[in-house]
Amino acid sequence: MNIRRVLPYGVAAALALPLAGLGQGTALAATDYQAEDAQISQGTAATNHTGYTGTGFVDYTNIKGSYVEFTVSAASSGTAALTLRYANGTSTERPMDISVGGTVVASGVSFPATADWNTWVTKTVNVPLTAGTDKIRATATTANGGPNLDRVSLDAAADTQAPTRPGQPSCSDIGENSLTLAWGAATDN
Ligand code: GCU
Ligand code: CA
Repeated sequence: MNIRRVLPYGVAAALALPLAGLGQGTALAATDYQAEDAQISQGTAATNHTGYTGTGFVDYTNIKGSYVEFTVSAASSGTAALTLRYANGTSTERPMDISVGGTVVASGVSFPATADWNTWVTKTVNVPLTAGTDKIRATATTANGGPNLDRVSLDAAADTQAPTRPGQPSCSDIGENSLTLAWGAATDN
């Protein structure tokens, strides 16, 4: 029995297995929330440009502090990706603070110019959610107000954290034609 020849292949295959099938911790289906259906403070639901989804978009009043607040629900707590679909037909960015439950979680997020008011693009920020209902607010931080806001979408955040390296394997129960391999388990977020 040639243990030395078998061992490297066995170890490689065994180490690969624990890394497969480890998914993202936050189970969250992508969900859209239309801005025109949200709570609007110092802004109006409008339809005077093309390309929006739903029944319109929100035209923020050109004033600092104007906001749109979305009541969202998450199946579990954790980080979610919040994607805002907006248009900004001026040449000046329209920054906004993103808050969850009254706490700013992304400050002065940039919403740069788009080609015109009919051109919608997306901006994504990560937000921490609690299981159940959360209130996500996008508040203009300059006197220009926010960009025109079509909708927000919530999806599982991209998994940017690699699993930990498994521990060094060790052999035991070495017999004539078999052995036992063991190693410390990898963990993932
Ligand atoms: C224009 C445009 C609006 C926009 C506004 C603004 O009036 O038609 O959709 O909201 O500019 O500068 O905020
Ligand atoms: Ca406006």
